[in-house]
Amino acid sequence: MVRVTVPIPGRPYDVVVGAGVLARVGALLPELPKAARAFVVADRAVVDHGFGVLAGSLKEAGLDPVLLSVPSGEEAKSLQVYGTLLHQLATQEAHRDDVVVAFGGGSTGDLAGFVASTYMRGLPLVQVPTTLTGQVDAAIGGKTAVNLPEGKNLVGTFFQPRAVIADVELLATLRDRDYRSGLAEVAKYGLALDPGLLEQLETDPAPVLARDPAVLEPLVARCAGLKAVAVVEDERDTGARLFLNYGHTLGHALERLEAFEGRSHGEAIAIGMVFAARLAESLGTAVSGLATRTSRLLASLGLETDGSLPPVSDVLAAFRLDKKFHGGVRFVLLEDVGRPVIVDDAPADLLAQILAEMGATR
Ligand SMILES: NC(=O)c1ccc[n+]([C@@H]2O[C@H](COP(=O)([O-])OP(=O)(O)OC[C@H]3O[C@@H](n4cnc5c(N)ncnc54)[C@H](O)[C@@H]3O)[C@@H](O)[C@H]2O)c1
Ligand SMILES: [Zn+2]
Repeated sequence: MVRVTVPIPGRPYDVVVGAGVLARVGALLPELPKAARAFVVADRAVVDHGFGVLAGSLKEAGLDPVLLSVPSGEEAKSLQVYGTLLHQLATQEAHRDDVVVAFGGGSTGDLAGFVASTYMRGLPLVQVPTTLTGQVDAAIGGKTAVNLPEGKNLVGTFFQPRAVIADVELLATLRDRDYRSGLAEVAKYGLALDPGLLEQLETDPAPVLARDPAVLEPLVARCAGLKAVAVVEDERDTGARLFLNYGHTLGHALERLEAFEGRSHGEAIAIGMVFAARLAESLGTAVSGLATRTSRLLASLGLETDGSLPPVSDVLAAFRLDKKFHGGVRFVLLEDVGRPVIVDDAPADLLAQILAEMGATR
């Protein structure tokens, strides 16, 4: 078991990563002296993969578990599901000292976090992420959200959890596609922030792909540590935290397009990281070879980066819909692995040219 502290001034919390820690959630919780019940917002698909164990451990800690199951994955992040949860808390007379436990992937975590941050102006929240993306990224840092029909994550809050408890054994049942999506984020940490991690992935991806808990425990903890540092430096998402968006400028643009529907976030950011590497090479920001090295790594992790792309003009239009768009498209580029910089002034014709080279039609 590895413990990583997120040292936010005034309200630090721990991320506990380990094999089998689900059975110890109750014992690992921080002091919640007045809590009587634990409202477990659980992705319907994971209820059978451990709710019993989680509930048992909460009971041992003197908490009465109440299951609130929600639709699987992204479908849960709606105002409607949010409203239903608020009604369930109200009819069950949830108290503001009771705790909300998010049990699922990033989707469940974002939803449960939004509920916890707003019901009675805030209930303590504990994240128990069950996806690789959740464990290395989404559950840490306090961003909560639901989607609107007009766009993803348009409503939300900043609200830090009291603890994050990540059992790497839970990752065994993830679909390959969801697991690989998380691996794209792990590759992102390696490329943008941690050459040592990158080297580990490049040298021997097999045990990671085999989901060996003994390998995943330090790997997830290392990524959690990188996220923790970025979050603390920059709780409100402006400076250092931007580096975590490596590959995400194009990734998010692709995800906004109908032509990309059905493909995963990991695939989108994998393509985004190759694009960023090519852009950095073209601008002379990066050493040459970065793009080839990036593609090779992603391919070894089972991530496609040469699938079909939407037309160039659609992608350029989608860039401009970015929440972070302020008159120019902002990219995180690398001077080399582990050395991110922010670039605001990449010319549109160069972006178009690289997209076309990567297979987008003009
Ligand atoms: N708050 C943040 O900082 C942050 C960061 C990254 C992503 N996110 C959000 O997270 C969401 C994506 O999260 P995700 O990638 O974890 O996916 P997800 O939560 O949508 O889950 C993906 C799929 O995996 C299933 N699943 C979850 N755990 C499982 C398990 N242990 N075994 C088998 N199946 C399991 C789910 O039912 C779902 O079908 C997006 O909405 C994104 O916006 C938030
Ligand atoms: Zn991401």
